[in-house]
Amino acid sequence: MNAFSASSPFQPGAPLRRPRITAIGCYTPPRVLTNSDLEKMVDTTNEWILERTGIRERHIADPDVATSDLAYEAARAALAQRGIEPSELDAILVCTVTPDMFFPSTACLVQHRLGAARVWGFDLIAACSSFVYGLGVAAHLVAAGTHRRVLVIGADTMSRIVDYTDRATCVLFGDGAGAMLVEAGEEDDGMGFVDCLHEIDGSGAPYLNMPAGGSRMPPSIETVQKRLHYVHQEGQQVFKYAVRRMYEVSKELLDRNGLTSDQVKILIPHQANHRIITATADRLGMNGDRVMINIERYGNTTSGTIPLATWEAVEQGRIRKGDLVLFAAVGAGYTVGASLWRWAY
Ligand code: UT7
Repeated sequence: MNAFSASSPFQPGAPLRRPRITAIGCYTPPRVLTNSDLEKMVDTTNEWILERTGIRERHIADPDVATSDLAYEAARAALAQRGIEPSELDAILVCTVTPDMFFPSTACLVQHRLGAARVWGFDLIAACSSFVYGLGVAAHLVAAGTHRRVLVIGADTMSRIVDYTDRATCVLFGDGAGAMLVEAGEEDDGMGFVDCLHEIDGSGAPYLNMPAGGSRMPPSIETVQKRLHYVHQEGQQVFKYAVRRMYEVSKELLDRNGLTSDQVKILIPHQANHRIITATADRLGMNGDRVMINIERYGNTTSGTIPLATWEAVEQGRIRKGDLVLFAAVGAGYTVGASLWRWAY
């Protein structure tokens, strides 16, 4: 590990190193799959997809492109924005449900390609909440004083595990990646990490999963024939849970920090369904300009949605230094998470 502090950070009086997000980089593969393309593949319509999900198009990786390739591009963009070398990183977290392989981790593959010497890292699997969890883990590594810079990458090639004969799921997902650099502030001016709240609820496992390919149901001719290596979802169950929990976790996080949603500049939620996002934002009183929605052009990129949406919000000038930003997500598991940051650049 690229030790940040020569002495133990746990000594009394050690200074608070408040974690900050200091750069974002994103990458989406160039090929676009539109709703009208999907109309030719399954029994669906542009109107149905738009009305029920808010999605118009999504990006799809070419067959020779895997998750580590998307992650690498996003990582390079974030490092370039900050003007630092890969060797200046202490850890790389890759949030994904579509690793190149079960092992080695995608983090190892990205580290090698970046040439990031003396770094450690791992893959983090929490489905659509992965990136929010990754930010929380990075914040704690940095706050502990043991890490100066942690690169959190959210990358998924969902097209590899989506069944393009199942109209209920194939219209929803896209491929993409984003990376945020979390690093220690030199002095505590209040900018950076505020708090996060995470929860898992395994009672949701039957409603959104990829049944085969793991130790429960290893790959066989039968699992392939039964199409068990694809995403399976009971949409309405997940929808109801997401609408309720995304609001609740956000509200609880604000409450325990003595904040109200009026003080939050922008809500950046996981992009699974336009209706889930607006229902959550409505309950928080944050619709319109104060909620970031870009699902229309990317679909649900799983771990990629939050960095992709944040990058666009920053590009559009909707986030400025000092603004309070709220990230929130619900995903398969179930996994639930929210994270509050005071924007630092
Ligand atoms: O990111 C991880 C978490 N995931 C989510 O948050 C996703 C949560 N769920 C959803 O976003 C929504 O449930 C969906 C978008 C997946 C589905 O929307 P819905 O309004 O819940 O539709 P539904 O599943 O209740 O289906 C309504 C009808 C059905 O037909 P019948 O039974 O009423 O005749 C479906 O067969 O729509 C039909 N349908 C479609 N029709 C045209 C389902 N998919 C399609 C389609 N095109 N692509």
